Amino acid sequence: MTTLKVAVIPGDGIGWEVVPEGLKVLEAVGRKHGLDYAFTEYDWGCERFHKTGRLMPEDGLERLKESDAIFLGAVGFPGVPDHVSLWGLLIPIRREMHQYVNLRPVRMMKGMKCPLANRGPEDIDFWVIRENNEGEYSEIGGRLNRGTDREMAIQETVMTRHGTDRIMRYAFDLCRRVGKQKVTSATKSNGIIHTMPFWDERFEAIAAEYPDLKTDKYHIDILTAHFVLHPDWFDVVVGSNLFGDILSDLGPAVAGSIGIAPSANINPEGDYPSMFEPVHGSAPDIAGKGIANPIGQIWSGAMMLEHLGHQAAADDIVKAIETVLEGAGPKTPDIGGQATTKDLGDAIVEALK
Ligand code: NAI
Ligand code: MG
Repeated sequence: MTTLKVAVIPGDGIGWEVVPEGLKVLEAVGRKHGLDYAFTEYDWGCERFHKTGRLMPEDGLERLKESDAIFLGAVGFPGVPDHVSLWGLLIPIRREMHQYVNLRPVRMMKGMKCPLANRGPEDIDFWVIRENNEGEYSEIGGRLNRGTDREMAIQETVMTRHGTDRIMRYAFDLCRRVGKQKVTSATKSNGIIHTMPFWDERFEAIAAEYPDLKTDKYHIDILTAHFVLHPDWFDVVVGSNLFGDILSDLGPAVAGSIGIAPSANINPEGDYPSMFEPVHGSAPDIAGKGIANPIGQIWSGAMMLEHLGHQAAADDIVKAIETVLEGAGPKTPDIGGQATTKDLGDAIVEALK
């Protein structure tokens, strides 16, 4: 029996509804594959902020470092400004744990309805790799003359050679590893004239290390259009923190529902735990109704097991998700059914048997 130490942070909103389904599926697949877990649940999030003034305790990051992986729901809820909640929990974890890769598969599963006409699973199957530690999401900048007509705000983008090269190498390595052919770079070097030409230069330099792979680059504006018009063009897409964030919501929406999309925040060196979470947020509009789609969370659990070296168990989860989506099983409202979060979770557990 292998015991995996997993820190569990449901966070806010539907995080509390989908995380239990994720855990249930992890337990079920664990029984089949000889995996055991030591889950430590943390009640960190906006409610805690209201009570204590902090989203997580001061030694929160230290506590997380003791785990093999972090399993997170979503963070942010009305009542706490989004930049406060994000920078109070999610972003510190990503940065302190050097999770510089945000890996987001965009895959249309069989059984999903595609919002694009005449497109199917064979057309939509690629990866978005988002730089997760620097870029546009920086703390450098400030505001002056608040509330006056001279008010101003400045935010500096930070791109380092170290940070840029490592995310690009990760993208090229992944492309080889999953047997794909092409890496596409998301840029905007026509309008953003310092950081983005630098990004382009580094992309060319790193691409030269991988002569067996094809490359492509598009400005982010037309790239979003191509995601909709030509999703079949893409294998691996690498983008800065902001561009990758946008593309990795657009991708899953094109593939059928944001509710099924998983993501991994990875520290490839394994010096720190990596974190696994659905792409979606806390969905305040449906929180408490028990109708959130748990598949994004459950699939994130599969990515966690894969990262920890349990490929067969991970594959089993993905297969069970596909079985349920393809069959006549329960579907939550976002994918055209009337089932509850729990019904869908139960069906996936059943499909694992
Ligand atoms: P959201 O992803 O929470 O919701 C967008 C839309 O998608 C809503 O209509 C929602 O009902 C729907 N949706 C999301 N997940 C779903 C699921 N599993 N099943 C069915 N429908 C689902 O994004 P929004 O509204 O921009 O953000 C809400 C809060 O979440 C904010 O506080 C935001 O900062 C936070 N957020 C947190 C993220 C994280 O923790 N990684 C990521 C994105 C947003
Ligand atoms: Mg996002």
